[in-house]
Amino acid sequence: MLNIHNLHKSFGDKKVLKGLELSVPKHSVFGFIGKNGAGKTTTIRTIMGLLMADEGEIFVAGEKVVYGNTKTNRHIGYLPDVPEFYSFMTAIEYLRFCGEISSMDSLEIKPRSEKLLKLVGLEDEKHRIKGYSRGMKQRLGIAQALLNRPKLLICDEPTSALDPIGRKEILNILSMVKENTTVLFSTHILSDVERICTNVAFLNDGVISMQGKLSKIKSSYRSEEYVLEIEKYEDTHKLMRTFPKLKASDNNTLRFNQKNYSPFEIIQFMANNDIAFTKIEKLEPTLETLFMEVVK
Ligand SMILES: Nc1ncnc2c1ncn2[C@@H]1O[C@H](COP(=O)(O)OP(=O)(O)O)[C@@H](O)[C@H]1O
Ligand SMILES: [Mg+2]
Repeated sequence: MLNIHNLHKSFGDKKVLKGLELSVPKHSVFGFIGKNGAGKTTTIRTIMGLLMADEGEIFVAGEKVVYGNTKTNRHIGYLPDVPEFYSFMTAIEYLRFCGEISSMDSLEIKPRSEKLLKLVGLEDEKHRIKGYSRGMKQRLGIAQALLNRPKLLICDEPTSALDPIGRKEILNILSMVKENTTVLFSTHILSDVERICTNVAFLNDGVISMQGKLSKIKSSYRSEEYVLEIEKYEDTHKLMRTFPKLKASDNNTLRFNQKNYSPFEIIQFMANNDIAFTKIEKLEPTLETLFMEVVK
């Protein structure tokens, strides 16, 4: 759906993007992850043809993006990081306005707007946008972005300024629309990504340091940590005397690294000494640990 090759962008002598390569498959929900100031908004504005790249190429649905020439944007719905509205309008007036300036069929504007307002939970909202919360503005922004039935929906940090409930609402909407459109959103909130994304890319130091299917990335970064839960608290001491590198993490819980002990020798010892355990488990790497590894 979207391909970026060798994208470079500097502001003055500050190099922000240094040869970024990104590939967003059709029908994915793609999490574009990076710290504040990593260059997420710069990348997105370049995709939209709003910023000129110093070097590199971008293709949307196979068509080349040309700076200042918005042809490829007909495939895209865009929610900027700080969406601006005419605050004297109501939601339905705003969508009609957007439909009119983008030359939508006038008969289609009303039913399409009503359907989208329902999708984002604003169908009963009669107030002017002026009184909206941040979450309501983001939801209206998504409705606006979906008006022209885009193949690709791009949202720039749609959840960053929201409370947990507002974030959940936005994530629900994004996962509902994935049936009809590819979704790309930028964020630094890793739990949002774990919740709805099929694919991810980490932007770090001007390049993508890791990208692909979330499930594949997770399984290729096998953890070496085990967690062990012991039935009786006294037994944890017995274990720790024999295996001094075991770490107590909770009352009855111990952790160990495969580098120090094999799980089999520990199980063997527990069997020989009648130590009952309730759980032994290999820890799944979280996106957080992967991100920290990549950033380091
Ligand atoms: N128009 C600009 N002029 C100068 N520097 C800019 C401009 N836009 C962004 N930057 C700088 O580029 C870096 C990346 O910014 P940005 O793309 O907004 O990051 P992100 O969206 O990941 O937080 C930052 O250091 C920012 O200060
Ligand atoms: Mg940004």
